[in-house]
Amino acid sequence: RPARATVTSRFLNPYVVFFAVVAVVIILAVTVALLIHFLAFDKKSYFYHSSFQILNVNYTDQLNSPGTQQYRTLSGRIESVITTTFKESNLRNQFIRAHVIKLRQSGSGVIADTVMKFKFPRNNNGESMKSRIESVLRQMLNNFGNLEINLPTEIITLTDQDAVNLFTQECGARPDLMTLSEERVIGGTKAEEGDWPWQVSLRLNNVHHCGGILISNIWVLTAAHCFRSNSDPNRWTATFGISTIFPQERRRVNTILIHNNYNPGTHENDIAVVRLDRPITFNKNIHMVCLPEATQNILPGSTAYVTGWGSETYGGNTVSDLEQGRVYIISNDVCNAPISYDGAVFPGMLCAGLPQGGVDACRGDSGGPLVQEDSRRLWFLVGIVSWGDQCGLADKPGVYTRVTAYRHWITQQTGV
Ligand code: ARG
Repeated sequence: RPARATVTSRFLNPYVVFFAVVAVVIILAVTVALLIHFLAFDKKSYFYHSSFQILNVNYTDQLNSPGTQQYRTLSGRIESVITTTFKESNLRNQFIRAHVIKLRQSGSGVIADTVMKFKFPRNNNGESMKSRIESVLRQMLNNFGNLEINLPTEIITLTDQDAVNLFTQECGARPDLMTLSEERVIGGTKAEEGDWPWQVSLRLNNVHHCGGILISNIWVLTAAHCFRSNSDPNRWTATFGISTIFPQERRRVNTILIHNNYNPGTHENDIAVVRLDRPITFNKNIHMVCLPEATQNILPGSTAYVTGWGSETYGGNTVSDLEQGRVYIISNDVCNAPISYDGAVFPGMLCAGLPQGGVDACRGDSGGPLVQEDSRRLWFLVGIVSWGDQCGLADKPGVYTRVTAYRHWITQQTGV
């Protein structure tokens, strides 16, 4: 048989034709399905910024700091009014969350700078959504409950990075809040980059010696006892980021201010502030924690986190990757019980740990933060790692400098 005929007949083989057609149909179907999916169902996050003017609230100094009850209540009310409005509108499935970034003064009233997050299919353009958002806001004008709110003059579309930048200028936000996402579950003992962006490593002759806490772009809060062996600023440096081997930033120390009444014998007034040689530029992974008001109550039994590069066991070595531990606040009364510290815990101190022990700060964690999250997901500093009987023993919790007791001292020294 001629070779040519063989080729033709193989090409026209009905099975080959059948499979080729099936293959083409499958490829087409998959392509169309993917297109429909990406254009119509795959949702993308969009961030918008707007400033709401609150007419019937007078601006007071109490609204200067995110730690005050007034600040929390007002921000929370504005957030819930915005949330309710969108949840009752035709954008209920697109609206994700609103967060008041900052309250500012405007005449005698208040302006709330707010970030809102929505999720839309990709084929919607952000601008057309903007006008839908505006119209929902316009409709609700009369519906703000007992807050009298002026419509925002403009709604600005933000990139994800813009949204993050707004948060990094303020205190206490972690990356999950900066993107208005679900809260990241804090599990295990290893921290991830950005988890505790205010954590500082204070280094003596370039060796990690103590923890520190970023409270502004130039001031670091720490413990007085960190400087017992050496208080010459020229010997000290600060690094930022979760790894002490590959830090994200480094600064020299310019000034060390130790509490005048620090008492090494009783550990009273174990607090100091350190001024960096030049300011830190905040980013997602490096920025300041919020400070509580002097009057804030720290509730026994509430959850707190302690972080640091300290040793994992009593007598062990410090570590190079930041660790975290979840503990509970213990009342001074319980902490002063005879089986516990038997009266050694002064009012300017705060205890935190687990009743059975096991989770605690240890050597090398000193000067580092004990933080708590508030109802708006901002993180506040409640303690500075100070002392303890060994580490993690039952009935011997960690003892911290009680930050609320030194709130005025911090302002006097740093203006923060
Ligand atoms: N003084 C120790 C230091 O210099 C920290 C003590 C904290 N101890 C504790 N069990 N919580 O690093």
